[in-house]
Amino acid sequence: MRSRKNKWDDDPYTRLAKQRGFPARSVFKLEEIQKKYAVIKKDDHVLDIGAAPGSWSMFVSRILNNRGNITGVDIMPIGNTIRFSSEFHFIQGNIFHADVFLSIIKYGPYNVILSDAAPFTTGNRLVDSTSSCELASRVIEIAGKCLKKGGNLVVKLLQGGDSGAVLMQMKSLFDHVKAYKPETSRKKSTEQYYIGRGYHETN
Ligand SMILES: C[S@@+](CC[C@H](N)C(=O)[O-])C[C@H]1O[C@@H](n2cnc3c(N)ncnc32)[C@H](O)[C@@H]1O
Repeated sequence: MRSRKNKWDDDPYTRLAKQRGFPARSVFKLEEIQKKYAVIKKDDHVLDIGAAPGSWSMFVSRILNNRGNITGVDIMPIGNTIRFSSEFHFIQGNIFHADVFLSIIKYGPYNVILSDAAPFTTGNRLVDSTSSCELASRVIEIAGKCLKKGGNLVVKLLQGGDSGAVLMQMKSLFDHVKAYKPETSRKKSTEQYYIGRGYHETN
């Protein structure tokens, strides 16, 4: 029996991701970020927020190569066919909930925090960018509790709304901050990744 076609099945990056064993094309965005900014090192402890279906965590586990470890968190489950070559903990739940926050802290502190978390979009640009800013601010708040000094943060944000304020918040906490839209991000998408390197306390 033929399976139903997804609207992205003809996308070359979706096909390439599947060929390489990754569940989602988003892996190529993290690959670009890693090539350009080298945010992850071999023995890091990494927190992956918005980890499902699991491509970013799989990519990180290949970098860690049996050293370091990864904690993934998502409302949705990670695909049960995904295999990690390094220690992996998964927390299923919403990062705004206190019990999830405590579990995140329990596995920390982290050298790197990645967030590809995206709100469930409505199609209304202002509503979606506002939800995205709230998510990003929560990620930064979590980073403030469990990112090691000198650590790195990558956080996705849909542009609009308060995205400028989120960028300013990042600039007050990291030595180097860049806004980056990967080549493999869909052209129509308003997403950008804010990359903060060298975490320090607020000035
Ligand atoms: C674009 S997907 C992430 C893809 C993932 N990086 C990968 O490569 O497989 C965004 C994820 O963010 C998650 N998410 C959105 N809001 C969240 C929240 N408040 N807490 C935890 N996860 C959330 C969604 O459930 C979704 O799985």
